[in-house]
Amino acid sequence: MLAVVNTPNGPAPVAIREVPEPEPKANEAVVAVHAFSLNRGEMRLFQVRHEGWRPGQDIAGVVLRQAADGNGPAAGTRVVCLTDWEGWAERAAVPSHRMAALPDNVSFADAASLPVAGLTALRTLRHGAPLLGKRVLITGAAGGVGNLAVQLAARSGARVTAVVGSAERAKVLDGLGAAEIVTSIDDAQGRYELILEAAGGPSLTAAIGKVEAKGVVVIYGNSSGEPTPLDFRMFGEHQNARLQGFHYFTCEPEEKFGPDLALLVSLVADGSLKPRIVEHDWHDIPAVGARLLGRGVAGKAIFHIPQT
Ligand SMILES: NC(=O)c1ccc[n+]([C@@H]2O[C@H](COP(=O)([O-])OP(=O)(O)OC[C@H]3O[C@@H](n4cnc5c(N)ncnc54)[C@H](OP(=O)(O)O)[C@@H]3O)[C@@H](O)[C@H]2O)c1
Repeated sequence: MLAVVNTPNGPAPVAIREVPEPEPKANEAVVAVHAFSLNRGEMRLFQVRHEGWRPGQDIAGVVLRQAADGNGPAAGTRVVCLTDWEGWAERAAVPSHRMAALPDNVSFADAASLPVAGLTALRTLRHGAPLLGKRVLITGAAGGVGNLAVQLAARSGARVTAVVGSAERAKVLDGLGAAEIVTSIDDAQGRYELILEAAGGPSLTAAIGKVEAKGVVVIYGNSSGEPTPLDFRMFGEHQNARLQGFHYFTCEPEEKFGPDLALLVSLVADGSLKPRIVEHDWHDIPAVGARLLGRGVAGKAIFHIPQT
């Protein structure tokens, strides 16, 4: 079968090559992958992982073979899955508890946007729950995590201020429920009970300056790669505020992956979560990946695997 393979020494960061079929463990189903998505963090992994390593976490497709232990969806079920790696392939082995069934009205492309980005959006927001009536500030709001977080927060009753890089970028948030969209965090007025921050550098400094006393800044990335000076005195006007480190994979128990994926899928199915996606053929990963790193992708980049 064909799969995406890491090629850090090649002309492009990855290539599509022949690899052996997956050999599932007893708790793993085999899934025919129709669509997958690319995360900013995976672009960095391409550089540090060895030649031949096989990437791929966010996949959607059809169960070909149910897990041998009898758990999880039956053959023929349309599913979205979170894999550790090796997901970007014609077929992938997936632990049966890391998948959720898809209703017919949820496309593979929309579903593939959900695992890493959707779980991150959902789980970062839980640090501010209940959100009803709260002011929430979301940086990188035009990005993969950001556009989903804006929607989930707004649907939970928060008053959301979204920070995007430009007016052009703001278009991706049209109709998604943000109360306010600003093109610089410095333009966000007042204090916020919850701030989702992954740009890092000056953006994190500004975020600390806008958190409510006893509020929370969830730090889940550093897209800019820039450091942020930190000093106790920064909290003088934001007393007892908290900086919360966040890692989507370990923040909640393993058995919650399936239910949280199912929750996200149900919100797409009922029309209250509308992933902003741009769709490509899987041969386009190198070009689209470069655009993603250069802040040239609004929403989530999705790739289709032709079904032969
Ligand atoms: N901790 C975790 O568990 C976890 C999970 C998922 C993702 N992450 C991290 O969270 C961040 C967001 O992920 P994502 O998938 O949403 O990425 P993405 O789609 O590339 O979005 C990142 C957004 O950040 C904004 N941004 C602001 N300043 C930036 C800068 N200096 N450089 C690059 N982007 C900048 C960009 O918006 P504008 O161009 O509109 O300003 C962009 O839309 C990444 O750093 C990722 O590695 C962490």
